[in-house]
Amino acid sequence: MSQIKTSIPSRKFDVLVIGAGGGGLRAALQLAQDEANVAVVSKVFPTRSHTVAAQGGMNAALANVSPDNWHWHMYDTVKGGDFLGDQDAIEYMCRAAPRLVIELEHIGVPFSRLDNGKIYQRAFGGQSQNFGGDQAARTCAAADRTGHAILHALYQQNIRAKTHFFDEYFAIDLLKDDEGYILGALVLEIETGEPLVIQAKTTLLATGGAGQLFRTNTNARINTGDGMAMALRAGIPLQDMEFFQFHPTGIAGKGMLITEAARGEGGYLVNGEGERFMERYAPHAKDLASRDVVSRAIATEVREGRGCGPNKDFILLKVDHLGEDVVRKRLPGIRDMVQTFLHIDPINTAIPVFPTAHYTMGGIPTNRFGQVVAPHQQGAEEPVPGLYAVGECACVSVHGANRLGGNSLLDIVVFGRAAGNHISEYLRENRYSRPPAANSVDQALERLARWDRRGDGETVDALRNDLKRAMEHYCGVFRTEDVLREGLEKVREIEARLQNVYLKDHSKVFNTARIEALELENLVDIALATVSCALARKESRGAHSRIDYPERDDVKWLKHSLYSKQNRQIDYKPVRMKPLTVESFPPKPRVY
Ligand code: FUM
Repeated sequence: MSQIKTSIPSRKFDVLVIGAGGGGLRAALQLAQDEANVAVVSKVFPTRSHTVAAQGGMNAALANVSPDNWHWHMYDTVKGGDFLGDQDAIEYMCRAAPRLVIELEHIGVPFSRLDNGKIYQRAFGGQSQNFGGDQAARTCAAADRTGHAILHALYQQNIRAKTHFFDEYFAIDLLKDDEGYILGALVLEIETGEPLVIQAKTTLLATGGAGQLFRTNTNARINTGDGMAMALRAGIPLQDMEFFQFHPTGIAGKGMLITEAARGEGGYLVNGEGERFMERYAPHAKDLASRDVVSRAIATEVREGRGCGPNKDFILLKVDHLGEDVVRKRLPGIRDMVQTFLHIDPINTAIPVFPTAHYTMGGIPTNRFGQVVAPHQQGAEEPVPGLYAVGECACVSVHGANRLGGNSLLDIVVFGRAAGNHISEYLRENRYSRPPAANSVDQALERLARWDRRGDGETVDALRNDLKRAMEHYCGVFRTEDVLREGLEKVREIEARLQNVYLKDHSKVFNTARIEALELENLVDIALATVSCALARKESRGAHSRIDYPERDDVKWLKHSLYSKQNRQIDYKPVRMKPLTVESFPPKPRVY
């Protein structure tokens, strides 16, 4: 085996965590406390990771506000995901939730309080008591800044535990040896533009989602699907990429998130005729139906001419009846955002909203220990040695075809911890470092070298904007064969145009130009996976709504998709219907 080029600096760790959101930091904390030597690489300062933007809260059946138990939470999650979720992982997550919320409280997360001193819980969409009965209030909240509170607490605890941070480093590609072990990554220091090899016995991808695929979205600029694209390039297929969540209430025309908590606190939607239209679409849950249902309802109202405003192109979210105290106490961040971006005060004025791209349900396939699993020669799945993934970049799959609000903060904490525990075990059995193959480093360096192109041509910005517009137009809330087919052509054209992209000369100074080009390459791969899988799945399930196949088809389509980059092929695998200890919830009509 040839040696890694000596000119490139190299560091060695037990564990490399790529991404410093809640999933990465929860895993890193578990490992650092277990005395592993842990490096966290993040392309932004860790507390700017996208977890910081999570608003409404984290689900756990604490029963502080309404009767509750984890089994009801499990039922709601399976139903919310339109029966595509893996029920072993869902049971594991819902059972663990109450304990992990208390653990967060103990490490310093300042949850809001009830008068009796217990953690405040609010109602969120798709939550029920007693398997589909009355509305439950299961979402533990720190006002409307819950992700911010959790991320800062986890970062502080990692500093205390001596986790090593590489802040503002961008991961180029995974490194492996000839036997297929994943052994770290080539990363780039953004400030200097210098590459660095980080060798590790295990690597955890926690890079978040790919909301930047769409023009209007709730996501940070950083959410470009980097980990998913790295997995694709390493030969690992992506699972269930056709399922992308559109949050019902983004600020109309701009996309920023107006938390579901606004409806959980008693807010509601009205159309241009002043009608509370959700009563027609979800007679029982109304405005707190699951997100896919509410997003489709809003899009339908607008399409059928019942929108608000001069162009009838949005819907109004009313919280002005809740009273100033509730808005100030429970929704201060929302008030701030609406005042800043719309120059209105939600205390007395309704908020214009429209569905906005929010969450990637698909991702890197894992089991409930966070191990990345990939099909093996004989078709059976096996863990990829040394590789783990958690959070939005992963597909474990607890969210199935549609995630319930409040389950993403839960997902990152539960599976971050689970992956940390499993990595500790792995490290006990794999005590010695293995060197990555030199050609794997060379390939990663070649990817970087491609973006040394300077001169005139298409700009990264122009191509990225075309991609985002194409995804919004051809792969949005409602889909059809013809539109998706055209969308796939457009994305392929955009992929071909990557060859014509040049960085302007001034990018010698601004290394971020090269990072944006690398991110765009990642987005293009994720877009191809998303549109291809959406075209292939000929049914409507959860967030994937095909006008030409309006029904869910459990006979043909109760299965996960797996998209590979190498041959652009889509395979399928069964849903894990069997929970760990309870009876499974078989598919049934999904009504709210
Ligand atoms: O609406 C929200 O606060 C978003 C929460 C979530 O996506 O879980």
